[in-house]
Order: sequence, then C-alpha cells, then structure tokens
Amino acid sequence: MSEGRIVAAAGAHNGAHTGEEHRIVQRSVGNKVTVVLGAQWGDEGKGKVVDLLAQDADIVCRCQGGNNAGHTVVVDSVEYDFHLLPSGIINPNVTAFIGNGVVIHLPGLFEEAEKNLRKGKGLEGWEKRLIISDRAHIVFDFHQAVDGVQEQLRQQQAGKNLGTTKKGIGPVYSAKAARSGLRICDLLSDFQDFSERYKVLAQQYKSMYPTLDIDVDGELEKLKVYVDRIKPMVRDGVYFIYQALHGPKKKILVEGANAALLDIDFGTYPFVTSSNCTVGGVCTGLGMPPQNVGEVYGVVKAYTTRVGIGAFPTEQTNEVGERLQSRGKEVGVTTGRKRRCGWLDLVLLKYAHMINGFTALALTKLDILDVFEDIKVGIAYKVDDELIPHFPANQEILHKVEVQYISLPGWNTDISNTRTFEELPENAQKYVRFVEKHLDVPVKWIGVGKSRESMIQLF
Ligand code: GDP
Ligand code: IMO
Ligand code: MG
Repeated sequence: MSEGRIVAAAGAHNGAHTGEEHRIVQRSVGNKVTVVLGAQWGDEGKGKVVDLLAQDADIVCRCQGGNNAGHTVVVDSVEYDFHLLPSGIINPNVTAFIGNGVVIHLPGLFEEAEKNLRKGKGLEGWEKRLIISDRAHIVFDFHQAVDGVQEQLRQQQAGKNLGTTKKGIGPVYSAKAARSGLRICDLLSDFQDFSERYKVLAQQYKSMYPTLDIDVDGELEKLKVYVDRIKPMVRDGVYFIYQALHGPKKKILVEGANAALLDIDFGTYPFVTSSNCTVGGVCTGLGMPPQNVGEVYGVVKAYTTRVGIGAFPTEQTNEVGERLQSRGKEVGVTTGRKRRCGWLDLVLLKYAHMINGFTALALTKLDILDVFEDIKVGIAYKVDDELIPHFPANQEILHKVEVQYISLPGWNTDISNTRTFEELPENAQKYVRFVEKHLDVPVKWIGVGKSRESMIQLF
C-alpha cells in the first residue's frame, strides 16, 4: 500500500482548527483483472483461452460487443458455443458478468443458455451465476431487422455490404451514441414509460426504413416476460465491479469479443464492428479504472482469418488458403460463413500490440500448420515500393500494400499430442520463437488442438 499525496487539515469541514495534519492514505489499487483480447480479425480461439484461465477464476466478464461474437469451448468432447454469455460460465464456481459496454438481445441470451444446457452439464445453474449491468443497452428484434435492411441498401447503393452478422450490433450502438437507446435499467423500471420510449424508437426506424415490419405490441409482450426473469440478475454494474476489485482477493477475467482489427476506432474501418474491442473497452465497458488492468493476453491464431468483407493483405486465395480453411475448419460460429484464410501477418500484430500492450500471447492452432513444407509470415508492408512503418488507416492503401514475407521451414509432423514446448519439432519451436522475437512479446501458451488439454504452457 502506498501513502497518498492528498493532505487536508483535520476537521477542515467542521470548522475545528486543531493544527493537526490529517493524511488521507491512498487505498491499495485492489484486485487486478486479467484481460484476454483477440489480436487479429476474430476467431483466434479466445473462448478456449478463457476456459483455460477460468479454471480457477472467480468472475469472468464481457465488456463489449453482443451476440455477434462466437466463442467455442470444448470440454470432454462436448462443444459449447457462447455468443453473449462469458465462456467462463461453464465453470460452476464462476460468476459471469455482462458489463455496461455489452449490447444484449434478451431472447438470444436465453436461447444461447438453453442450447448449451442441452449439450452438457456445463451450464447448470447459470441463471444464478449471471450478473447483468443495469447500464447495458438492449438489442431489439427491430435492430436486427434494421441491420439486414442496411446491408441490403449498402449492396444496392454501393455495390457491396459490410458482411455483418445481422445481430443488430451497428444499429444498437448507433442508437446508444444517438442517445435514443434503451437500457436494462429502463426495462426494469416503469414498463409503461419503457413502452412509450420503445414505441418512439420503433417509429424512428419506421420513418427511416418504411419497408420495416415491426410488431410493436408483440415484442413488448415478449420483453415484459423477461422482466421477472432477469430482475434477480441485474445489478448496478459499477458498484458490482468496484466491490469485486476492492473486496477479498479474487481472480477476475475479462473475455474480449471480436478483435483489434474489428475495433470501431482501430480496425479496418468501415469493415469493423461497432464497439472498442481493444484494451480501452475494458475500462469503459465495465466501469473500472486503468490501474486495475493487470495482464493483457493477446490471442493470436498461428495464421490469419477473416469473416466478411474488407482488406486482408496476407490472404491466400489459392490452394494454401483452401488448405488452411479446411484443416482449420474455418467456418464462422455465429453465421456459418467460410472464413477467408492467409498467412500470419506480423505487421498487423505489431499494430494490435501498440494499442493493447500485450503482456503475453496465446498462439493458437499451430497444429493446423503441421502439413506445410514452408510457412510464410508477413513481416513488412510496402506502398509504392516504400516500406511503411505503420499500419495504414485507409482501406484503399491497405488493399494495395505489397506484403514482404519471410519463409520458415515447416515441420511436417503431427503436433496435436505434444504437451510441452520441448516435445515440439525444432521447426515448430523456431516458428514460435520467431513470432515472439519479432513482436517482442512472450508466447505463454501454444494451442495444438481444440480441447482444453491441447494447450502447451510455456511459463
Ligand atoms: P473465438 O471467437 O476467438 O473464441 O474463436 P472461435 O471459437 O470462433 O474459433 C476458434 C476455433 O478454433 C474453434 O472451433 C476452436 O475449437 C478451435 N481451436 C481453438 N484453439 C485451437 C487449436 O489450438 N487448435 C485447433 N485445431 N483448433 C483450435
Ligand atoms: P469473435 O468474438 C469474426 C465481423 C463480421 C463483420 C464485421 C461487422 O467470435 O471473434 P457486426 O455484426 O459486428 O456488425 O459485423 O465484424 N465480426 C466478427 N468476425 N469473429 C467475431 O467475433 C466477429 N464479430 C464481428 O463478420 O465482418
Ligand atoms: Mg468466434
């Protein structure tokens, strides 16, 4: 505990002048949160890393995004998929927390829980272990419908869309920024007032998109049913996190959704999602100070994938890409779309590290590279024959960057059963060390398969 710098005269507020100095001692910082963030374009294996860390965690939080995320966790051969629920909820000792920065589609939340409940034991008692911030915004069915209409219009008007997940993410965060959104606290207060505001919002969308079909009464009726179901879960999120940080020692995890290159500010705009998926989103999405951010783990797939539209400098639209896609079973968890695939891009990862300050990395899906003779890694970008030191903001420039590659020898060995770094073939070790050295961030875990056990821990 450090001594504070705030000094006040004792009794200054009650007028008593004792001459004695009263020092206000600064509190200890409290517990730190461990953050897991996607470092590429999503689907790096965050769910699996969180599951591993959640084994001895007390609280697992989501701070941004909605059910556009799709996180897979494989336990005892059962494959669970999480979209809105923090993956750590699968551990019966974990309290899961959905923070204010998350956008919640209530029917989606319950469907997700019920679907996972049918798969295995992991979700038993979930309703008692989930806490929802009262400041989180609500995604309505019409936000999802608007997402679809906007995509259609983009296609008609600009000849291309964004390839969103159609989960209403763009529309609901737009409504939040426009200050017309509705939050969980509104749903739980006076339902009559809530209904009026809901109707105004629905009307706004109807006037913007006249073809939109909104069943106002039907949706309000459905929402009313959720009031009693979620009431026991809802808390003042800021106070909940404050208590968690300053109460007894606790292990608190934050599960990032989406990823750095999909971040609304730092991603490949406009082909991004609508929230901050980088480290700043942890503070704004949970309501906590930066000094409580502890380890920041970046999850990096050993190659690169991207779902949807947008520039992708190391993409391989050839046999290599197809091989990565089929070996890696690269199909979106949320939309079922095939993921585009390419080589690892260290320029992009350096950029993600500049923003997030990763303290260590989890390098996942190294096993997918088992069959390649040579493995390429993008290490620099050239624009008009000049090397550039930064990651370009402009999509047109990103489309025309010329990637400089280095070729590393493959290992042609099945590594899926290795459990220590030393057991890995020499060339696989070299691949990992190359990534580490280039980014100047240690690799703490290496993924060699889907299951919880298929993870090598280095330190
Ligand atoms: P997330 O969105 O970052 O949680 O990742 P997804 O769940 O969308 O996609 C990652 C996929 O890769 C899932 O199907 C995981 O089961 C799988 N996976 C994760 N780590 C590994 C790994 O190290 N090796 C293999 N072969 N599969 C993995
Ligand atoms: P996880 O958490 C991969 C992509 C969509 C689309 C763009 C905008 O599983 O890594 P949105 O519906 O958010 O408005 O779509 O962002 N996208 C993801 N791609 N993994 C994700 O999440 C994604 N979340 C959003 O494909 O291109
Ligand atoms: Mg995913």
